[in-house]
Amino acid sequence: MMNREELCKTANAMVHKGKGILAADESTGTIKKRFESIGAPSTPDTRRDWREMLFRAEPAMQDYISGVILYDETLRQSAVDGTPLVELIRHAGAIPGIKVDMGAQDMAGFAGEKVTAGLDGLRHRMKEYYDLGARFAKWRAVIEIDANCPSAACVTANCHALARYAAICQEANIVPIVEPEVLMDGDHDLARCAEVTEWTLKHLYMELFMHGVMLEGTVLKPNMVISGKKCSVRAGVNEVAEATLKVLKSAVPAAVPGIAFLSGGQSDIEATAHLNAMNAGGALPWNLTFSYGRALQAAPLAAWGGKAQNHDATQAAFNHRARMNGLATKGEWNEALEG
Ligand code: 13P
Repeated sequence: MMNREELCKTANAMVHKGKGILAADESTGTIKKRFESIGAPSTPDTRRDWREMLFRAEPAMQDYISGVILYDETLRQSAVDGTPLVELIRHAGAIPGIKVDMGAQDMAGFAGEKVTAGLDGLRHRMKEYYDLGARFAKWRAVIEIDANCPSAACVTANCHALARYAAICQEANIVPIVEPEVLMDGDHDLARCAEVTEWTLKHLYMELFMHGVMLEGTVLKPNMVISGKKCSVRAGVNEVAEATLKVLKSAVPAAVPGIAFLSGGQSDIEATAHLNAMNAGGALPWNLTFSYGRALQAAPLAAWGGKAQNHDATQAAFNHRARMNGLATKGEWNEALEG
């Protein structure tokens, strides 16, 4: 039976001030690409070694990471010494979570647009994930911007799926991270990103309401309102922070305990600077934190290079990024700290 108290407690711990989420839930295909970029092979063992290094990093895991999103394979893997990886995460005081969607699939009739799959059988899988130690889940919807996108059909279908997923999670006492990602690919400007993000979030909260989702036991994982990567004039840090807060304030109910941004292709320092600027401006209705994949892992991945002898340098790079982002959740980061 759904336990409201447990859900709220988990959701609040995930967005605890000073901490944020490590998104280490790359699918086998995605992690292969990341490893290729450093010339490392992707096997169950190399994936385990890489993730074990991160989950054992001190003090990042104890002080700056509230939870870790895992891929199905990782949730079931053990460290070299036989300790389940889930146990390493829990031992550091962080919460294990699980990516449960089956990826964004091409949407019939809407060329270039996607809808996320994975609802079939989800209710059944959820129980096993809880038994394996997951206390929160993630489902990512992808909304693309171009001259004719997104369509209303794409926004509606994705928000509907997110709401059905969230309801299934809560029934199993797993906190849903609700992730509608408006992509930063393309040449659109800040205003266009703001418009699409506001539309998506408003539709999302209507669907969550329709499906009886208890907002106090959810975490939102949105994109920041940011210029497209190929936009000729890209907005600066303060503009991004202002535009993002404006949209969030108009679309996200204060009942939501926290908002944990994705990095979405921003550079690691950019992602930190934006989060910091939003938190430097004074009190907000929700805690604003990070749920970064690339922006937390790019530097340690480069330091590792797939070589065991770079273990300490890898952990040092991860500790640094985790600390920088931890400071950004309090508006206490500045560029000089990057050394
Ligand atoms: P990025 O921070 O690399 O965008 O990844 C976060 C994530 O989990 C996307 O679903």
